[in-house]
Amino acid sequence: MSIKALLNQRIADAMQAAGIPSPCSPMLALSGKPQFGDYQANGAMGAAKQLKTNPRELAQKILDNLDLDGIADKLEIAGPGFINITLNNDFLAQQLGTDIDHRSADPQTIVVDYSSPNLAKEMHVGHLRSTIIGDSLARLLEYQGHNVIRQNHMGDWGTQFGMLIAELELHLGEGEQADLALNDLEKFYQQSKKHFDADPEFADKARAYVVKLQSGDQHCRNLWQKFIDVSVAHNLEIYQQLNVGLAAQHIAPESSYNHDLDNVLAALVEQGLAVDSEGAKVVFLGELADKNGDPSPMIVQKSGGGFLYATSDLACLRHRVGTLQADRILYFIDARQSLHMKQVFITGRKASFVAPDISLEHHAFGTMMGPDGKPFKTRAGGTVKLADLLVEAVERAEKLVSEKNPDLSSEEIAVIARKVGIGAIKYADLSKTRTNDYIFDWDAMLSFEGNTSPYLQYAYTRIRSIFRKAQVDAEGFSAPVKLTEPQEKVLAFKLTQFNEVLNQVAQDCYPHSICTYLYELASAFMSFYEQCPVLKDGVDSATQHSRLQLCAQSANTIAQGLDLLGIEVMEKM
Ligand code: ARG
Repeated sequence: MSIKALLNQRIADAMQAAGIPSPCSPMLALSGKPQFGDYQANGAMGAAKQLKTNPRELAQKILDNLDLDGIADKLEIAGPGFINITLNNDFLAQQLGTDIDHRSADPQTIVVDYSSPNLAKEMHVGHLRSTIIGDSLARLLEYQGHNVIRQNHMGDWGTQFGMLIAELELHLGEGEQADLALNDLEKFYQQSKKHFDADPEFADKARAYVVKLQSGDQHCRNLWQKFIDVSVAHNLEIYQQLNVGLAAQHIAPESSYNHDLDNVLAALVEQGLAVDSEGAKVVFLGELADKNGDPSPMIVQKSGGGFLYATSDLACLRHRVGTLQADRILYFIDARQSLHMKQVFITGRKASFVAPDISLEHHAFGTMMGPDGKPFKTRAGGTVKLADLLVEAVERAEKLVSEKNPDLSSEEIAVIARKVGIGAIKYADLSKTRTNDYIFDWDAMLSFEGNTSPYLQYAYTRIRSIFRKAQVDAEGFSAPVKLTEPQEKVLAFKLTQFNEVLNQVAQDCYPHSICTYLYELASAFMSFYEQCPVLKDGVDSATQHSRLQLCAQSANTIAQGLDLLGIEVMEKM
């Protein structure tokens, strides 16, 4: 059991013994002012309000019934009725030694929908956030022992594909190979768009091709498949470079729900949820009415018979619930699709596609901005290709690493630069509050100081070098910990909080809490290392072993935390 869980239990018992009704909770939190204690319990105030009594007196009553012998050294009532708790050093040291199970007591089947780019174009920076935030949650939930099903809901079925296959037909007609024609997907898209806008005959053909494709025409289907294969291969390569755990088997694109769209529509019509409106079929949602009371419309079939993004998402929802048996479904999609997701969730529940106990969660995020505070663009104002951004990250890291450590071989530099460059981009994003916009800043993210990936990777290498110097194997190292110096205590206390942070992030899906934690941990380690000599002459062997143990646990926790963010560590940098 974590320290927090233990304290919670003991305080809840004491509250009960003090005659406080059970819905009142201890309201335990890390102390805002560490000089007054490690944790604080704020539950006496709320309980006193309910019982109409004096909160300080009630806090005293709780203390009278609270047994934290051997756990806390000091219990103090402060202010209007906070209880400050200072942990006992030996207890803390002993907690460090006990292997706390990081697996969830209630393993679930969790579908994580992330990355999900449209295949018509090359991946650009707009896909970065979903890809890396979703991946970190998938990693964390997997680490906690949940059955994680990654789903890449790629867009491969929209109207643009008519235009693209008409263009591809043109190229192949001139004897060009598909691979070559599609070598630059971005250019290919621009070309086809130009044809579409300038040539009415081409445009008509493109429109006819979408309909043919969606109704199963073999010729269109073949051309489409050629295009999709190239585009998917490109994306899989990006995932690999990004160290993101998405592979071919996770792709469940829009087209895979095509066969079920008629059934979805029929179910909605039968239940009276979808109704005729100007030739289209529309679901009107009073739950999302605007301020005039007009219900929010969601079109599920166009007047020409075509289905929409929303229709596929409803079919997809049925698949995730019925076939994948999800308990929880997480969507990592841009905040601009919030209304769409709300419409899909509400309709899915009203149509009984989703049972009430299944959790549907849209975890939205803000936009990545350029230094000018506007959405990130190239100098010329175009979208930045993700592939180019990653190349630049590695190049910048290479320069940095070779300046910092000229003794490294060029092979070593190449490996390190990839980990540092890619890690920097990912961490810069993950460390910001998910729902906010943020400014993309090369210098800040690649800095070796502050809350950055290079800082943490560097802290890791420093700890590992201590073990190399001591000629001790860090992996298998285990020694009893004795906490005497204040910096040792701060570090040990931080180490015990890792699982609590992970549990919180597994619930709220805000990975920046992991980053904040790791940064504080690394900072606590640095102060400890400055104040508490480890390998110096004159340090007795018990102290040395205790400190090496703190070092080992710090390194392992940093590496584990970064791994959950999809960031790699190295021995040297
Ligand atoms: N392909 C969509 C886009 O690029 C994102 C899909 C997200 N997932 C979903 N189930 N709607 O905007």
